[in-house]
Amino acid sequence: MDTTIAVVPMGLGHLRQVLDLGHQVFDTTIKPYTSWSLTAVAEHLDSPDNACWVALDSDRVVGFVLGSMEFEHRDDWAYLEWIAVAPDMQGHGIARRLVNVCSEALFARGARHIVTDVEDRNSASAALMTSSGFVPAATVTLLVRPNPAAPDDVALPPIAKRDLVRRGRLSVEHPLR
Ligand SMILES: CC(C)(COP(=O)(O)OP(=O)(O)OC[C@H]1O[C@@H](n2cnc3c(N)ncnc32)[C@H](O)[C@@H]1OP(=O)(O)O)[C@@H](O)C(=O)NCCC(=O)NCCS
Repeated sequence: MDTTIAVVPMGLGHLRQVLDLGHQVFDTTIKPYTSWSLTAVAEHLDSPDNACWVALDSDRVVGFVLGSMEFEHRDDWAYLEWIAVAPDMQGHGIARRLVNVCSEALFARGARHIVTDVEDRNSASAALMTSSGFVPAATVTLLVRPNPAAPDDVALPPIAKRDLVRRGRLSVEHPLR
């Protein structure tokens, strides 16, 4: 464990670096129902029961975790949604510390379970989560049926689209049409 790295609650001042680090390491094309955006980060910060932490090397944000007490319609389930560590700082136990501090905060607030979803090919994330006490609960396969008449042109009503963008589920740069 690297003791020179401080783990502190995320504040507004960390937003820019968190956003940039996420853009650097997340591949959101793998899970097309997620998108990394300022809105996604800001909504976490804005939530009164957020569990968001950053790992700091002096003033540099070298890792973060974004968790919340909100998981779909389950009142007593929490969600550890995003975690990242800067590539040059990986392998030093920083993510483990972030998972633990976030989980402890969510359990202390009354969560009975914490959910996280890991894409099959993300072996680092899978190993991190399983060695941190997460156990597989369900396997969901994302099946996609392309529209043969308009393969890349799926119509979404404007209100549904706006809501998805607001919730960080749809990227403004790559909106479904
Ligand atoms: C996943 C990630 C956060 C791990 O960060 P990290 O600080 O390097 O992880 P740690 O050093 O705390 O490692 C903790 C455990 O995770 C596992 N792990 C981490 N990196 C691994 C790798 N490359 N391969 C296999 N297991 C790995 C190991 O079990 C490790 O425990 P050990 O060191 O006792 O063997 C980092 O690789 C990352 O930012 N990836 C890109 C973003 C991402 O995919 N996030 C998850 C989806 S939101």
